[in-house]
Amino acid sequence: VTDGTVDLRADFASDNTAPVCPEILAALARANRDAAPSYGADAETARLRERLSVLFETAVEVFPVSTGTIANVLAVSALTPAHGAILCHEASHLVMDESTAPELFTGGARLVTLPGSRAKLSAEVVRDRLAAWPIGDVHAAQPATVAVTQATELGAVYNPAEIAALAGVCREFGLSLFMDGARFANAVAELGCSPADLTWRAGVRILSFGATKNGAMNAEAVVVFDPALARGLAYRVKRAGQLASKMRYLAAQLLAYLEDDLWLRNARRANAMAQRLAAALSAIPGVEVCGAVQGNEVFVCIAPAIRQRLRAAGYAFAAYPVFGPDGCRLVTAWSTEPSAIERFVAVAAERQAV
Ligand SMILES: Cc1ncc(COP(=O)(O)O)c(C=O)c1O
Repeated sequence: VTDGTVDLRADFASDNTAPVCPEILAALARANRDAAPSYGADAETARLRERLSVLFETAVEVFPVSTGTIANVLAVSALTPAHGAILCHEASHLVMDESTAPELFTGGARLVTLPGSRAKLSAEVVRDRLAAWPIGDVHAAQPATVAVTQATELGAVYNPAEIAALAGVCREFGLSLFMDGARFANAVAELGCSPADLTWRAGVRILSFGATKNGAMNAEAVVVFDPALARGLAYRVKRAGQLASKMRYLAAQLLAYLEDDLWLRNARRANAMAQRLAAALSAIPGVEVCGAVQGNEVFVCIAPAIRQRLRAAGYAFAAYPVFGPDGCRLVTAWSTEPSAIERFVAVAAERQAV
């Protein structure tokens, strides 16, 4: 990549800049043999359903799709009527980064944003909002869904007890709990808990199970824990143009992702690299790590002169003014090498890379 003057370095710009991991590419090549049934009637897609049911320790329904946005908006559309409201964090991907897809796919439901540190919703904030809501009043949008992101957009994780507390409030008021798991693997790797404890056992009804950021090419899975929702979602998937005719290639990516815990190994690697990056940067005067690193996103305040030096060296990364005027986001991935961290830190510290 070039901006005309200097090669851009995308190492820490996003986990979407990481390549596809070799195990997944190899699985695509293996799947690329004979003719196979289309539209999800193939053996890989059936195996994926079985495999995810084993992972989550319950029978799940699975819809492989090609982006996180479509996974999220299909999921919330299955949980939220057109006259409903979705409660989500004000920094959530759903409200900040999915254009008006949530409104489009729900037929016009309202997104209601709530505050919370590090993009986390708390049970208390959600309960207070719902307690003051004119529930049953036809003049008001009716709350239907609470959406959380795991790990959050600001680099924090919810533990199973926090998810269960949110689900408890949902039950109290008759809402559903949805989880955007674009970085679910990083959260599980961070927490060391079981995927079941973090989702359906705590009360999550649908999960967007991310893979693209963590080594896949272009595959995410909508994982449905409530069988009553599956049929309706199948029609929604087709209507959204997401019933892939060659579904086996999405399923093959996701199967390889699950094989031998590749998803967790990749996430552990990404998380360890985030810790390493944060530790190295925190030793540099003029750089301050903002809060604990949980997962693969590092938020740092970088003094303008250092930022300027990094930009001049070609490094691309996002500004995060929520952490102040110097706030920045650096993201590691399954493919991050220690040498890439050393190069970045050397530029930041204005010394020669070893
Ligand atoms: C929290 C979160 N959810 C979902 C997504 C997936 O979005 P996309 O539609 O770009 O695959 C992303 C990707 O940036 C994300 O950060």
